[in-house]
Amino acid sequence: MLKAIWMSDLHYAANGDVLGHDPKAGLGSAIEHVNRFYKDSELCIISGDMVNRGTVEDYAAVSESLSQLAMPFFPMVGNHDDRVLFKDAFTLPNNCMQDFVQYSISTSEGEIICLDTLKAGSDEGEFCSKRLGWLTERLDALGETPAYLFMHHPPMKLGLPIQDTENLVESDALLELLSDHSNVRHLFIGHVHRPIVGTIKGIPFATMRSVLFQAPAPQPAWDWKTFKPSEEAPSIGALTIANMDVTMQYVQFCRYEDGLV
Ligand SMILES: [Fe+2]
Repeated sequence: MLKAIWMSDLHYAANGDVLGHDPKAGLGSAIEHVNRFYKDSELCIISGDMVNRGTVEDYAAVSESLSQLAMPFFPMVGNHDDRVLFKDAFTLPNNCMQDFVQYSISTSEGEIICLDTLKAGSDEGEFCSKRLGWLTERLDALGETPAYLFMHHPPMKLGLPIQDTENLVESDALLELLSDHSNVRHLFIGHVHRPIVGTIKGIPFATMRSVLFQAPAPQPAWDWKTFKPSEEAPSIGALTIANMDVTMQYVQFCRYEDGLV
């Protein structure tokens, strides 16, 4: 059995607040909760937006903070990340692509594959032919071994009118590749700061809340001009995989008010 923790969208900042939320309080509470109640997890995956602005100081601070975790952590890039600074700040698995933050982790229950969907300078995501080629080779090489994929940008629309315009563009090739590989068992997706579950091409997926601030539900309707984080508490995922069966608990680790400045 594999036990793992899933965090997303830390939007960490070394100084100050992010939309009225305190990055140090948010991540600090999450780490404390994980170390107290989920110490037996083998690893922690963080599905992108490690920092809010992408400065050297922010990466150093978030890296330092995450070093308090009781288990190894695996960071991924989101639209708020800077790939060059990211690579300088974190130690990544040896099989990581040279030009991208895309790698895989072998576990007793199969392969965890962390994708890089960052499109530099844009909030929407992309998955170019180089990254697609790497994933094709990886999935082919795995044969029957189950694969669990983490990515920042959703490769599909999620019924979120505002956020759906900033997901993965031209995702058809990726979805076709995944549906051609029956060993792809589950997708885990960041970016939307909301909990949503479903299936795509028959493959189950889940999205995750942000460790820091949440996006409102699509109704009542909102837009970026009037955007205000919703008054919902953050959560992380506590994941169990055994014989290809996946269970993921959404775990609230603090109150909404605890994450405010
Ligand atoms: Fe985010």
